[in-house]
Amino acid sequence: MKSAALTELDTLKAEFAISLTAAEAASDDAELQRLRSSFFGPKGKVTLLLRSVGQLPAEERPVAGKVINQVRQELEGQLVLVLSRHEELARKAALSSHRLDTTLPGRQPVPMGAVHPVHRVVARMTELFVRMGFEVATGPEVELDELNFGALNFPDDHPARDMQDTFFVRAPDERSFGRLLLRTHTSPVQVRQMRAEGAPIRIIAPGRVYRCDSDASHSPMFHQIEGLWVEEGVSFAHLKGVLTSFIHSFFGERGVRFRPSFFPFVEPGAEVDIGCVFCGGKGCRVCKHTGWMEILGAGMVHPNVLEACGIDAEKNTGFAFGVGVDRIAMQLYGIDDLKHLFTSDVRFLESL
Ligand code: DAH
Repeated sequence: MKSAALTELDTLKAEFAISLTAAEAASDDAELQRLRSSFFGPKGKVTLLLRSVGQLPAEERPVAGKVINQVRQELEGQLVLVLSRHEELARKAALSSHRLDTTLPGRQPVPMGAVHPVHRVVARMTELFVRMGFEVATGPEVELDELNFGALNFPDDHPARDMQDTFFVRAPDERSFGRLLLRTHTSPVQVRQMRAEGAPIRIIAPGRVYRCDSDASHSPMFHQIEGLWVEEGVSFAHLKGVLTSFIHSFFGERGVRFRPSFFPFVEPGAEVDIGCVFCGGKGCRVCKHTGWMEILGAGMVHPNVLEACGIDAEKNTGFAFGVGVDRIAMQLYGIDDLKHLFTSDVRFLESL
């Protein structure tokens, strides 16, 4: 004979089944929650029934407790299942009512950035030298006087220093550091790399340089690319070959002229001109009617420089060059004032 508690349990089960089916059919979430608390909440029917087990005769308690608990778990499981089915349906409905077509074009055009003209030139030049086996090196923009001048064979107080108007930097401890300055050219990277790697060495070093100078064709900050190749047997013929090949790849076939020039760190030294990119050599306003444009300085690395970098100058020879990038960018893009390149007026840059 069944105890009263278990009979009541059967009734509750039947009642629960009816209510659950009704709430599910009506897709009524609130009703499902109410059902949950009225059966299984702290004052729910099943909870109270379970609590009443304590008042049953001792021999009935274990069985009644166990059965009620089982039923509670089973019913609660059914309810959770229905609830999660509901949630899933609600999510699907929300997704299909807010459908997002990711294939539609945007309503506002996204502004596209572009590489700065100077950096475009640097990147193209760098790529050409890398293809000829040069590695890219860098150095600091705040440099030691000793590396910017001294090791490059500019004696202290020599008038050759006046070729480069220098920004000196006040260093916190000049006595242990030596004098500091904003590098006036990328040539100190040669010294750093030769001291670090020795020979053979084949590098290019693009970067910013600074001089106390400012007008339509001079900016206090500008860009250079330094090149250096030191190895046994490197001659002036290699210098001419590498630079001519670079010029032809970068500017196309045209005249190339090597003019003797002086730089303390090379001997012999040269300046290199190319047939004007505008008139092809006939003479125009840009080339001041000479037909030529100067683009770089170069020469055979001075033995004093090799020795100052710990390289045996009896055994090794090499050449170096320095290209001014900004002036080339100005000519290629037809820019008449250097400052346009650095004032970062987007309207101007967009017009290029
Ligand atoms: N550093 C020189 C300048 O800024 C350019 C230069 C000339 C670099 C001859 C070189 C070189 O490496 O060999 O005027």
